[in-house]
Amino acid sequence: MIRLTVNNKTHDVDADPNTPLLWAIREQIGLTGTKYGCGIAQCGACTVHIDGAATRSCVMPISAVVGKKITTIEGLASGDKLHKVQQAWLEHDVPQCGYCQSGMIMAVAALLKEKPKPTDADIDAAITNICRCGTFQQVREAIHMAAKA
Ligand code: FES
Ligand code: FES
Repeated sequence: MIRLTVNNKTHDVDADPNTPLLWAIREQIGLTGTKYGCGIAQCGACTVHIDGAATRSCVMPISAVVGKKITTIEGLASGDKLHKVQQAWLEHDVPQCGYCQSGMIMAVAALLKEKPKPTDADIDAAITNICRCGTFQQVREAIHMAAKA
């Protein structure tokens, strides 16, 4: 049994210690907002926060995150109050199909925590998530909007 703390709740997960965190989150814990894209840390669809840092959960074994604070898209808002990145996303109509967007939002939330006023270069360096719908311009605008919120 591996004990994980996700969105401030503890879960005892019956899985091999090498199981990728993404699968424990989705299959054992039942939080399906975090998506599977590539499985090789390239696309960012599976991004969650581990102790506040954006992390691609498809390549992170659950044994490596015991005792750490894991936050998924379901835990980003504070009760009924959306996180400023979620609010900016809504106001800019960023999502198209939406598949990549929870990972994108988690990556951006971590960036803004580290760099509250990121430049375009900061955004290009930090947000390497892939969006097959091509929402990159809307993402950039929404990041700047969230940075002003
Ligand atoms: S599914 Fe994890 S980076 Fe693509
Ligand atoms: S919104 Fe469709 S993949 Fe990004």
